[in-house]
Amino acid sequence: MIDSFNYLFKVIVIGDSGVGKTNLLLRFVNHTFYNDLKSTIGVQFFTKVISIKNEHIKLQLWDTAGQERYRSISTSYYKGSHGVIICFDLTHQESLDNVVKWYEEVKQQADLNVKIILIGNKLDLNQQRVVGSDTAQQVAKQIGAGYIETSALTAQNVDKAFELLIQEIH
Ligand code: GTP
Repeated sequence: MIDSFNYLFKVIVIGDSGVGKTNLLLRFVNHTFYNDLKSTIGVQFFTKVISIKNEHIKLQLWDTAGQERYRSISTSYYKGSHGVIICFDLTHQESLDNVVKWYEEVKQQADLNVKIILIGNKLDLNQQRVVGSDTAQQVAKQIGAGYIETSALTAQNVDKAFELLIQEIH
């Protein structure tokens, strides 16, 4: 197969441990979901080619570890990234509170013109939801990011979230 594409975009996915970063990527890239994934150690890498208006865009997607003890491995991966996805868990307030901390890291490590979107994940867990859309929108505004809510479990809005970021980058 010829691996031809018009653009190559590097995207890094960050956020607290357990918010669903790996599952969002697995849903987007492989259309799969896992309940019992081990925490990411360091960084892992996925690729996907998508077509928008007859242009082929190759995405290099970097899944980072949310756990503090693996962070130093992850920070070097910001260099040269076009987009950053900051994820939090709609059922876990602290993961939203930490978004500003993640944003500070982006500002320190990433290129100046990097595009950011904020994803509130686990939209399917309606009963356990503790973060309201308005609150999350405000945080997104504060960090200059677009905002979208997803479920890696049901796939709701997952493609849309990546499209949103790609539109910002493109
Ligand atoms: P680290 O690798 O530790 O940084 O975690 P992570 O952010 O990559 O989270 P991961 O994808 O491993 O998911 C953590 C847990 O949340 C797993 O048990 C997943 O099955 C669950 N999970 C992820 N996304 C969703 C979702 O959209 N809905 C529900 N109900 N559970 C989810």
